[in-house]
Amino acid sequence: MPKIIIAIDGYSSCGKSSTAKSLAAQLGYGYIDTGAMYRAVSLYFHQHYVSRTNPHEVEKALADIHISFQFNPEKRLNETYLNGLCVEEEIRKMYISQMVSEVSAVVEVRRAMVALQQRMGKHKGIVMDGRDIGTVVFPQAELKVFMTADPLIRAQRRQAELLEKGDLVDLNEVLENLTKRDHIDMNRSEGPLRQAEDARVLDNSYLTFDEQVALIKGWADEKI
Ligand code: C5P
Repeated sequence: MPKIIIAIDGYSSCGKSSTAKSLAAQLGYGYIDTGAMYRAVSLYFHQHYVSRTNPHEVEKALADIHISFQFNPEKRLNETYLNGLCVEEEIRKMYISQMVSEVSAVVEVRRAMVALQQRMGKHKGIVMDGRDIGTVVFPQAELKVFMTADPLIRAQRRQAELLEKGDLVDLNEVLENLTKRDHIDMNRSEGPLRQAEDARVLDNSYLTFDEQVALIKGWADEKI
């Protein structure tokens, strides 16, 4: 059976990652969370006081950053590693969410991550989620999905997710963060968040998780 590339892009906290993960498991495909990569870069910048406005510091930092994913059989999920250390928990925290879009807008950061993502997906058989996968990373992807949902519903879901991890955050703070990230992501010069012309749009405001996965699985089956 021919393997394809499935690109899932969309706004912040639309459930792209969990949908992509479940779809990948059903298809026996690999899953790559590109947001985790930008989060790991942001963590490194934070830990090493890298100024994102200083191209020399950015280039030097990027040369020192090694990002990979390793499967954790106990948790049955892929975890993000930064220079050999598991950073999966740390990169999901609010302070990283508050800086990640500014770091992601840095041209050198985008070019390095896009090149790495293209290497990771070159053998196909992957589901990759992010903001620019269908437009920049894999414009030739066989299936492109653009996910969206009502901002308040997204904020409520994200708040519940953070709470589950013991991170108690005010709903307005979450909503503000989503809106701000979307704004920066849509307005940057390099790889802005936008819907690819040939993407199928999925608004999951009023869909259950299983319904949305089934919908995309149906679209994927048509292409495989
Ligand atoms: O997907 P997630 O919300 O974890 O992504 C965190 C941030 O990383 C986004 O708000 C966006 O600024 C950035 N990002 C990006 N391009 C991608 C994936 C994520 O700019 N392909």
